[in-house]
Amino acid sequence: MKEIKLRLAILLVLATLQNASSHGEQPLSRISIHKATFALHELAYIQASPTVLGLRGENTEWVTLEFGSKNPSVDDWIGVFSPANFSASTCPEENPRVYPPFLCSAPIKFQYANYSAPEYKDTGKGFLKLQLINQRSDFSFVLFSGGLLNPKVVAVSNHVAFSNPDAPVYPRLAQGKEWNEMTVTWTSGYGINEAEPFVEWGPRGESMRSPAVTQTVDRNSLCGAPARTVGWRDPGFIHTSFLKELWPNRVYTYKLGHRLFNGTYIWSQTYHFRASPYPGQNSLQRVVIFGDMGKDEADGSNEYNNFQRGSLNTTKQLIQDLKNIDIVFHIGDVCYANGYLSQWDQFTAQVEPIASTVPYMIASGNHERDWPGTGSFYENMDSGGECGVLAENMFYVPTETRAKFWYSTDYGMFRFCIADTEHDWREGTEQYKFIEHCLASVDRQKQPWLIFLAHRVLGYSSCISYAEEGSFEEPMGRESLQKLWQKYKVDIALYGHVHNYERTCPIYQNICTNEEKHYYKGSLNGTIHVVAGGAGASLSTFTTLQTKWSIFKDYDHGFVKLTAFDHSNLLFEYKKSRDGQVYDSFRISRDYRDILACTVDSCSSTTLAS
Ligand SMILES: *[C@@H]1O[C@H](CO)[C@@H](O)[C@H](O)[C@H]1NC(C)=O
Ligand SMILES: *[C@@H]1O[C@H](CO)[C@@H](O)[C@H](O)[C@H]1NC(C)=O
Ligand SMILES: *[C@@H]1O[C@H](CO)[C@@H](O)[C@H](O)[C@H]1NC(C)=O
Ligand SMILES: *[C@@H]1O[C@H](CO)[C@@H](O)[C@H](O)[C@H]1NC(C)=O
Ligand SMILES: *[C@@H]1O[C@H](CO)[C@@H](O)[C@H](O)[C@H]1NC(C)=O
Ligand SMILES: [Fe+2]
Repeated sequence: MKEIKLRLAILLVLATLQNASSHGEQPLSRISIHKATFALHELAYIQASPTVLGLRGENTEWVTLEFGSKNPSVDDWIGVFSPANFSASTCPEENPRVYPPFLCSAPIKFQYANYSAPEYKDTGKGFLKLQLINQRSDFSFVLFSGGLLNPKVVAVSNHVAFSNPDAPVYPRLAQGKEWNEMTVTWTSGYGINEAEPFVEWGPRGESMRSPAVTQTVDRNSLCGAPARTVGWRDPGFIHTSFLKELWPNRVYTYKLGHRLFNGTYIWSQTYHFRASPYPGQNSLQRVVIFGDMGKDEADGSNEYNNFQRGSLNTTKQLIQDLKNIDIVFHIGDVCYANGYLSQWDQFTAQVEPIASTVPYMIASGNHERDWPGTGSFYENMDSGGECGVLAENMFYVPTETRAKFWYSTDYGMFRFCIADTEHDWREGTEQYKFIEHCLASVDRQKQPWLIFLAHRVLGYSSCISYAEEGSFEEPMGRESLQKLWQKYKVDIALYGHVHNYERTCPIYQNICTNEEKHYYKGSLNGTIHVVAGGAGASLSTFTTLQTKWSIFKDYDHGFVKLTAFDHSNLLFEYKKSRDGQVYDSFRISRDYRDILACTVDSCSSTTLAS
C-alpha cells in the first residue's frame, strides 16, 4: 500500500515536472487553475468599466478595473475570463492520474493586483487598466488570493462585452496555390447556419464579392491537455476566401462581410493589399523572414521570460516599415499558445496590421505540432495538446494537405521551399521528395533567388545546446539535405527555433566555399545558412567555441530582410527589433551563367563529343 502511494506520488511529480518543462514558455501554464477554490468575501469587490466596448467598431479597447480586499497580499492577482460565466462546477478530467479541475477554463490573461497600485498590499485597494480584444464572448474579471499556485476566488466582477462580439476580425492574407491568387482568412462568431461569409473586394473604384468557406475546431480534434481541458476555448468560425485572377502588382481594397439570413449585412473595416508579381517578374521585391516571435500583451499582463518587449518590438518595427515590405515569413513557433487557445486570437490581433496588408506565410514549429503518439517526428509535449490543429486552421498555407506542413511558394524572382521539421525530412521520406521537387522545378533564369526555410536548424548553429551535442545543427539535419542544397544551388537557408541571429559563410559539408564576407560576386559555390529565430521569444545562448564558418552572431531580438533589385542583385540585411537598424548585411551580384557554373557536387554531365 505504502509502495503504491509512493509510486503514485512519484508519477504525479513526474507529470508536474514534464508539464513544467514542456509548457514553460506559456505564462498561463504557471497558474494552477485546476486547484482553484472559492473563498468569496462579501467585502471584497472588483468592478470593470465601461461595460460595452467597441461602440465605434473597434476590435481593441481598454477597460479600467477597481478592486478591493479585506486581506490583501502581494501575490493577489486578477484573472480575465471569457466567456464571462466561467464554470465553477467540477470539470471532466482528461488524464486519470491528475485531479479534475474545479474551474474548467484558464483565464485568457492575468496580472498582479499591485501592478498599478504598489500600495495595494497595505490599503487593500487597487486599480488596473487592461486591454481587451474582440474574441466572440463577454468578459469577467476575478480577484484571486493565494497566488498563482493556490488560487482562491475572492471577488467576481460585472460582465463586459463588445457591442458585436461576433464581428469579423483579424484578416490574414496568404499566397494561394496559384501565383495570381490571394487568400484571406479571418475569424468571426457567425456559423454557416447564421450567415454567409464573403469578401467584397476589387481594384480601386470597382468591387465584387467572393464567397468564403467556414471551418471550426472542436475540442475532440485536439490531442491532449491543456488544449482539451483548461486551455480549451472555442476558436470560433474561421473563414477563408480565395481571391483569384489578380492583376500582378495591382492594389486591391477589401472588406470582410457576413450576410445574415434576415438580410442584414455585417462588415469589417476596409483593408488593402498589393497583388503578387508574376513569377520571374523583374521588379523591386522585399521579403521579411523570422521565427519564434510569439505574442505579448501591450498592457503588461502575462509578462514572462521577456517575451513581451521582444515580440512587441518586432511587430512595431514591421508595422513602421510596412510600405517597404512585400511578404512576410514567420517560420514556426508562431504564438506559443501551447494549448491555451485564447492566445491565437490575441496573436492574430497583434499581427493584424501586417497580416491584413501583406501575405503572412507561416511554417510549422514544435510549439505548433509536437505531441507524443501523434506522428510528430519529435515526441515531446511542446504544442500543449494542439498537435498542429490550431496553426493549420488559423492560417492558410498552400500545402497539399495541411497536416503535412511543407509547401512551395513563388514571389517574383524568389522561389521559397518551406520544410516542416516536425515531420521526418530524411532521404526516402515523402517530405524529402517534395523538397527535391521544389528545388529542382524552379526556372533559375527567371527566379534566381532560391531560398530554403525550416523551423529547426537543419543547417548550422552555434547555439550552446547544439554545440554541446557536437552537431552544431538539429541532429540529422543537414546529412540528407546538404547534397540537395548543393546540387540545386540554394542561395540562402533560414531557420528559427534557436532564439538569436547567426550567419555562416557559403558552406558545403562543413567547409566554407567562399572566403568573402560581405559582397559575393559570381558563384557562391555553397549555401549561406542563417538562424533568424530571435523575433521575440527569450534569447538562446551561444557556445564560446569559435568555428570557421560562423561569420556573424548576435544575441538580441531581430529579423531578416531580403531585397531583390533585379535578377542579378540581392541585398541581405539583419535588423534589430529594438531600433529597426541594420547590424549585419551582405550582397550577392551574379548572372545566370554563375548559377549554371559547375561547382563541387553540382556539375551537370558533359560529353567530349561535339
Ligand atoms: C507585486 O506583486 C508581485 C507578485 O507577488 C511581487 O513580486 C512584487 O514584489 C510586488 N510589488 C510590490 C511593489 O509590492
Ligand atoms: C456560458 O455562456 C455560454 C454562451 O456565452 C453558454 O453557451 C454556456 O452554456 C454558459 N455556461 C454556463 C455554465 O452558464
Ligand atoms: C437581423 O438579425 C440581427 C441579429 O439577430 C439583428 O440585429 C437585426 O436587427 C435583424 N434585422 C432585421 C431586418 O430583422
Ligand atoms: C567556385 O568553384 C569553382 C569550381 O570549383 C572555382 O573555379 C571558383 O573559383 C569558386 N568560386 C569561389 C568564389 O570560390
Ligand atoms: C525593445 O525596444 C526598446 C527600445 O525601443 C528597448 O529599450 C528594449 O530593451 C527592447 N526590448 C527587448 C526585449 O529587446
Ligand atoms: Fe522551436
